[in-house]
Amino acid sequence: MKKLNYIILGIIVSILIALYVLFPSAPNNLYIKYFGSKITIDKKDNTSKDVEPVQPNDSPKETDDKEGFEPGPDTPSPTPIEDEKDTIMIEGKLILTDPASLTVLVNKERNLPENYTPNNLVIGDFTKINYVLKQQIDKNRVRIEVLPYLEQLFAKAKADGITIYVSSAYRSYNTQKSIFAWNQSVYGAEKANTISAHAGQSEHQTGLAIDFTSKSVNFDLVERFEQTPEGIWLANNAYKYGFILRYPKNKSNITGYVYEPWHFRFVGQELASEIHKNDLTLEEYFKENSAIAEP
Ligand code: DAL
Ligand code: ZN
Repeated sequence: MKKLNYIILGIIVSILIALYVLFPSAPNNLYIKYFGSKITIDKKDNTSKDVEPVQPNDSPKETDDKEGFEPGPDTPSPTPIEDEKDTIMIEGKLILTDPASLTVLVNKERNLPENYTPNNLVIGDFTKINYVLKQQIDKNRVRIEVLPYLEQLFAKAKADGITIYVSSAYRSYNTQKSIFAWNQSVYGAEKANTISAHAGQSEHQTGLAIDFTSKSVNFDLVERFEQTPEGIWLANNAYKYGFILRYPKNKSNITGYVYEPWHFRFVGQELASEIHKNDLTLEEYFKENSAIAEP
């Protein structure tokens, strides 16, 4: 009986050895399958390194807002050509590859992907931020990163006796398309493009742009907003909260749009201060810093 046990044990050990000889990476693959990554010691420098496909459970998940956007199978992409580092050329158009960057430069040359929608759009507290329409609607939404700065801006304006309102913030690609089409039907294509962006070329699609207004201009978006206490306050103070006047007076030749004293764009406090102090457009800032590719 004892002898039989030894024979069976011998057979099992032989089978295991044979399996290991035939499939040497099997234990490794099973480990990776169930535990995710494998740390080995690099014998040369004695430091540990993740060497196998490392996919820790808490690694950043892919999000809807297309961080590091790459055109999907639906996007026509005949031989994408690298142009600037942050764009690719698709069918004669420069498409931004990092549309979710807080400092993204969107203009007539640099298009947002048609299917780009930020995945973190929110509406502020109606007791802290004045909205022309106090409703849970698309155009009241901004990127969540912007909200604390917007709240602070409203708090300081209120403390200074200034009552401003959010007229319009986020707009989808399709909403922008309709706006442009309407302007085109009224003014013709060329003029329409001096007051409104083609779909994909509007900062409103990023959730980082806000059109402000006031009662003093009947809640309209008009040039005389510039002369109102609210327009003056914004022009002098918005940068402190990370917002720049995106389409300044006498800079239409650079921005491609008429003066819009109501349109502000969040870029963060540091960049906003720099741009405000030096009286620049976003285009000029990136050109001067040779950083269009790496804003
Ligand atoms: N009015 C600005 C240019 C826009 O349509 O985004
Ligand atoms: Zn605007």
